[in-house]
Amino acid sequence: MSIEVQKEDALAIVTINRPDALNAFTTELILEMTDKMKEIAADDSVRVVIITGAGEKAFVAGADIQEMSEKDHDGAVAFSRRGHKMCDAIEAMPQPVIAAINGFALGGGCEIAMACDVRLAAEQAKLGQPEVSLGIPPAWGGTQRLPRIIGIGRAKEIIFSGRQVSAQEALGIGLVNGVYPADQLMDEAKKLAASFMKNAPGAVAASKKLMNRTMETSISSGNIHESKLFAEAFNGEEQSEGMEAFLERRKPSYSHPATDD
Ligand code: COA
Repeated sequence: MSIEVQKEDALAIVTINRPDALNAFTTELILEMTDKMKEIAADDSVRVVIITGAGEKAFVAGADIQEMSEKDHDGAVAFSRRGHKMCDAIEAMPQPVIAAINGFALGGGCEIAMACDVRLAAEQAKLGQPEVSLGIPPAWGGTQRLPRIIGIGRAKEIIFSGRQVSAQEALGIGLVNGVYPADQLMDEAKKLAASFMKNAPGAVAASKKLMNRTMETSISSGNIHESKLFAEAFNGEEQSEGMEAFLERRKPSYSHPATDD
């Protein structure tokens, strides 16, 4: 069991627990997380959810690169769609969901955090979408949610560079709602949860649904396109080079695209 759920009265604390791999998500973990989110969504006794990562280093360091490195086009479509379903399940929960970002939230980790309603970060947390360094575009909603949260210009710069964004910078651009010393992060998340829980749960759920709908208008079509281009990357050389380089702990070597057209 890699997804732990701990109930504290009406609060459910979900801990992604695979610290040896910085909580990176395999297909098995995606399915387990999706099931857990659906279970909690149907549990009327839960009023707010906090999602965090086990260990001191990472929230989630992304999709599991070892597993992804072995995928072909069809496997990539399925992997992307499962990631979308997991993130959509988080976003669709009637309860507010707070991401307590205790460390790296990269790739799929940033995408999971962005599917949450509110993000709080520890001072040392780093967020980002480094997929292009692996020869692939983001594939679990990153190209759709990041521009909606921080604006398209900033999102493009972050996704094209693949760079890590500090917690302080994330606060400045609205990617996170608060930054705290690591040892205070969970207390702050609980305080925020309490401030939600004092309000009418039906009204909070309705407000969430209404706000999600405005964001949802074209996420679905964007996600279909995202899966397509993600999967197409698995037909080319950049994906295998990028992932092999990561796994071999060397810098990837990419040839420049043709410029004569
Ligand atoms: N998939 C699979 N394994 C991962 C992983 C991922 N996304 N991210 C980290 N790990 C594993 C490492 O392979 C390593 O395993 P090992 O101890 O068996 O060798 C372990 O987690 C610790 O990671 P390591 O890279 O040694 O830690 P670090 O402090 O040097 O670097 C990161 C931390 C987050 C910067 C680095 O792990 C990283 O860049 N991870 C990939 C991030 C990424 O590209 N995510 C998007 C994927 S689409």
